[in-house]
Amino acid sequence: MSLDTALQPTADRPATDLAQLRSQLTLEEKVRLLVGAGLWSTTAVERIGLRAMHLSDGPAGVRGVSEDGAETSASFPAPSALAATWDVDLADEVGAAFASEARRHGVDVVLAPQVNLQRTPVGGRHFECYSEDPLLTGDIAVHVVRAAQERGVGMCVKHFVANDSETQRTSYLSRVDERTLREVYLAPFERLVAEARAWSLMGAYSGIDTGTTAAPALEHRELLHDVLKAEWGFDGVVVSDWVATKSVAAAAHGGLDLQMPGPDGVWGDGLLAAVLAGEVDEATIDEKVDRLLLLAQRVGALEGCEPSGALRDHVHDVDVPDVLRTLVARSMVVLRDEGGVLPLGVDDVATVALVGPNGAAPFVQGGGSAYVRPDRSSTLQDAIGAALGADVDVHAGAVSRFLPPTLDLATRCTAPDGSVGALVEVLDADGTVIDSAVRTEWGGWLREPAEHAASVRIRTTVALREPGTHEVGVGTVGRHRIVIGGRELSTSEQVVGAEVILDSSVNAPAPVVLRIEVDEPTTVELDATVQAVHPVGYASFARAELVHRVPVKSADELLVEAVAAAEQADVAIVVVGTNEEIESEGYDRTSLALPGNQDQLVKAVHAANPRTVVVVNAGAPVVLPWLDEVPCVLWAWLGGQEWPEALGDVLAGRTEPAGRLPWTLPASEADVPVPDAVPVDGVIDYTDGVHVGYRSWLRLGRTPAAPFGHGLGWSTWEHDAAVAGVLEDGSVVVDVTVTNTGRRAAREVVQVYVEPPVGSPSGDRPVRWLGGFAVVHAEPGESTTARVRVDASAFRTWDEERHGWVTPAGTYQLRAGRSSGDLRHTVDVSHPGSRATNPDG
Ligand code: BGC
Repeated sequence: MSLDTALQPTADRPATDLAQLRSQLTLEEKVRLLVGAGLWSTTAVERIGLRAMHLSDGPAGVRGVSEDGAETSASFPAPSALAATWDVDLADEVGAAFASEARRHGVDVVLAPQVNLQRTPVGGRHFECYSEDPLLTGDIAVHVVRAAQERGVGMCVKHFVANDSETQRTSYLSRVDERTLREVYLAPFERLVAEARAWSLMGAYSGIDTGTTAAPALEHRELLHDVLKAEWGFDGVVVSDWVATKSVAAAAHGGLDLQMPGPDGVWGDGLLAAVLAGEVDEATIDEKVDRLLLLAQRVGALEGCEPSGALRDHVHDVDVPDVLRTLVARSMVVLRDEGGVLPLGVDDVATVALVGPNGAAPFVQGGGSAYVRPDRSSTLQDAIGAALGADVDVHAGAVSRFLPPTLDLATRCTAPDGSVGALVEVLDADGTVIDSAVRTEWGGWLREPAEHAASVRIRTTVALREPGTHEVGVGTVGRHRIVIGGRELSTSEQVVGAEVILDSSVNAPAPVVLRIEVDEPTTVELDATVQAVHPVGYASFARAELVHRVPVKSADELLVEAVAAAEQADVAIVVVGTNEEIESEGYDRTSLALPGNQDQLVKAVHAANPRTVVVVNAGAPVVLPWLDEVPCVLWAWLGGQEWPEALGDVLAGRTEPAGRLPWTLPASEADVPVPDAVPVDGVIDYTDGVHVGYRSWLRLGRTPAAPFGHGLGWSTWEHDAAVAGVLEDGSVVVDVTVTNTGRRAAREVVQVYVEPPVGSPSGDRPVRWLGGFAVVHAEPGESTTARVRVDASAFRTWDEERHGWVTPAGTYQLRAGRSSGDLRHTVDVSHPGSRATNPDG
């Protein structure tokens, strides 16, 4: 296929001839280009003016590529929060913020957005995804990607495809029928190619069984080559997920273009060898090289080329913290507000009891590769105090974290030479020290350049100051010896392989812990030697999670203190939620309950103070058994670095919490249509078919705690009328007139759902599905019209026999309303029907 280079930037060096550039490369050079040069960079060929391109995570900010770990970034709210605004203009601003952050960090391609779907609420990376609905996901993602790329920064959409859970994540196979793939899981990717012209795409760790081909995602020629590249015309680069490439020829033929990271890995030496052996022909390599060069041209990595995109010079015209603060405040979803508790009157609130484990220690980012080291952090106590002009008293009130926290090297530890921190020595196989440093920070993993590192030894003295029971421990995998306080706690000669780095089910065992009773301040020696692991493509790693728990109050004691504080305060704000033990890449959740005794805390605080606002600080759904009992419940997401101030804005009435759920909130775990994500014999069967998310709830006739699309905002609305007009291309425009009947200027998200013709032979179509939406703003008493476009493609279905799209004839009902469960008007639209259009022509 030929690559369209029409987007070539013109700047200093017009019309770079990519084919001519490629012709200057030797075979060895071309092959090297298809393998990363390092963890986050591609290979440079200075001779042809090609510099290395830098790639960096991810969906909640741009982490940056520096080695020292001190680089900070603007921490964005978890992506579901953006989807909860249903606001494509805000998505444009987020795309611009990605571009701005990327440029600040010297990053050419951001490894985002993630457009996998929230098929099950237990999915570990749920918070990284936008929605359980393909249309909402696609709309938001198209705007984010377009806005970033218009500023000359590439986005790498991930993870292609049907990679919707984490258990056994490097090996499972998603079994998805062709129609479900087309209508649901491929749909956002297809739009990103067609409407945003995404410059790159990441192939998943997992595999796909379409019924005709079962293969790892990176080897899936039917999907990568036939559908993505040939049918849709994707002209970007297919990047492997990190260390996901398992084969040389199969992946090369499958459609993978760039193995990341490098320079090792199976393509490291293997790809050249495969070409020389005739297993992969040079034309296949050339086609991939052309894609790489086009990407380089687009991001400005070729000498003489400026980054491509109409707005490339406007990349810094973004006040990123301001965008993030508005975004996360607006994204908050009012689940319930009996009697208009929100906003809190600034004049009548002098004292606040801020209660809850997440009130004391907010959880603003999910775990895993999405994590960035934030530019700034603030406390809820300060932010809410400032917003309300009130005294804020903080009480954890409950225990919700169960693993001992990380040992603080900077405040508790002394290295053998007397300096603050821990001595970290890297040893070779003979036990000779080849590197040594005193560290005051330790993230649990050590990344060392030394290729011949065999083990890492950590020594420090830990100060135990508080009376009571301390716990000091180390978690690790593989060969190790752990001695604390002179006692050998654990030893193993078992050697582990590189795969442990990606598989949390094996790389995060509970730490071995020594409990120490302390009367007077004392110290304890910690001495741990752990195996260095050498993942192909990464530098060596050693995992040694150093933990320390100070004596803590019991959950009951905490509860009593919090309730007493709530009784005394003008208002109680209870912040409950999940934490890094629950929501992360690398594992799925095992329960939808709030961890610990948080449910009990909510009920007790509400009994003590009827003026209680509950704030849920979580990304993915949790069951809220008290939802109908407390007056006011706000879903506030994992809000990133601006979260405390944004919550202050909402509570004080500066910004409307205008969010609408981008997923379904279950009332009980037993109701959830897809309750787990555990492969059976390595396979996850997508038996729910096209009935993803709310569609299954509707089909099964189950009532959730809050339906997809629900959110009350801070006003009330009447939906006066809906009229529809059909456009020439079969799209329908629905004009919905709404009136703000409340007392505050507010935003309304008008949603239009499509229902299939009654009795039509259209097969197993959902009860209803989202067809379009629009956000409007109105002053109190004002009426306005929301124009919702339902694209012609909303009516079509995939015909498996003809392998093409078809629109069954009949009268479709377009149902307009406030959520999938609150529909106010219906308009009928008759469609003459269309025969299958085979994408192959
Ligand atoms: C994740 C990707 C991420 C990559 C690089 C992988 O483990 O699945 O989403 O972009 O690491 O950090």
